[in-house]
Amino acid sequence: MTIESPFSAVRVTDRVYWVGAIDWGVRDFHGYATPRGSTYNAYLVLADKVTLVDTVKAPFVGELLGRVASVIEPERIDYVVSNHAEMDHSGALSEVLAAVKPEKLFASKMGAKALREHFAFDREITTVADGESLSLGNATLQFFEARMLHWPDSMMTYVADDRVLLSNDAFGMHLASSQRFADELDANLLRYEAAKYYANILLPLSPLVTKLLEKVGTLNIDIDIIAPSHGPIWRRDQSRIIDWYGGWAGGKAKKKAVVAYDTMWNSTAAMAKAVSEGLIAAGVETMVMSLRSSHRSDVVTEVLEGGALLVGSPTLNNGVLPTVADLLSYLKGLRPRNLVGAAFGSYGWSGEAVGHIEEALAALGISLEAEGLKVKYVPDEESLARCSAFGREIAERLGKL
Ligand code: FEO
Repeated sequence: MTIESPFSAVRVTDRVYWVGAIDWGVRDFHGYATPRGSTYNAYLVLADKVTLVDTVKAPFVGELLGRVASVIEPERIDYVVSNHAEMDHSGALSEVLAAVKPEKLFASKMGAKALREHFAFDREITTVADGESLSLGNATLQFFEARMLHWPDSMMTYVADDRVLLSNDAFGMHLASSQRFADELDANLLRYEAAKYYANILLPLSPLVTKLLEKVGTLNIDIDIIAPSHGPIWRRDQSRIIDWYGGWAGGKAKKKAVVAYDTMWNSTAAMAKAVSEGLIAAGVETMVMSLRSSHRSDVVTEVLEGGALLVGSPTLNNGVLPTVADLLSYLKGLRPRNLVGAAFGSYGWSGEAVGHIEEALAALGISLEAEGLKVKYVPDEESLARCSAFGREIAERLGKL
């Protein structure tokens, strides 16, 4: 009896097939919560020289090879291209090379170095330069560097004849789904997950995203399909994701505020609520996020298009609550731009938390638009009125930006 693999490739064009893996269970990507899982997309180009572009995370190698086998015997792969050495794309590379024994392995110069440093390969890696073309006989690949998007080695592979850009991490999202194409999925879900991916991975690289978008615009290539390495493939509507990236990279802020806080005995929670009412009354779209129930990566997603970030913490041991410290540390790495901010919190006797938050926000380049607001022990009516006025003050500053 022949045992067949349950995995099938998905046709993208007559020549390009998706042969990646769906990770339904992954819930964390180095600190970024992925409640909807992810995919590791690899692509098979069925040209005279059969070429596999990227692999998958190591545990999914069987799924990758099963999908390849649904269209062609894996041993018929002639070339493997590694767009990016991070292990969600290269983890299965050693096993794939051992299984298919390709004639050549291609990577960017930095990619070749990174692959050697990860896997101690002694096999030859053919390096390709930015803009270089590779003939596959009846098809042509072209490589474009996308340095720091996401690592120094990152590059994109363009399948010229099919006008498909295999963009690797750029234009992706962490979303496991049975649908392979963005036009089969809910538009709001796509926008949220694309924004979350941008906010949590690409935000500090925004100037490079702007450069990449300019570069793509001047390459003089037609792109019908953008096929990233995570999440759905953009066909027909690829301008949607490009437009979103343009907006996020440009850092244009909406009249929106995020109030992120944690609380000890509900005093800072009551302050957060009153502050938010002040913002709302002044016409500001407001998102209140308790750090006990909101993950840091969701807070950053809301901050992405926001214009104000207000952070609240009571004082604990002369500092902030651990959840607040976690958020501030995470924000430090992601470097959100074009934000105004403010700090608030309750205290018992010393009240250092507000000062610590202000210091951290200022270090991020966030403009502090109101003096930090402290309330001793439990806010009374007068204190809550001050909180509401504090929210209105920030709203006013936000309106002037
Ligand atoms: Fe999806 Fe930078 O790896």
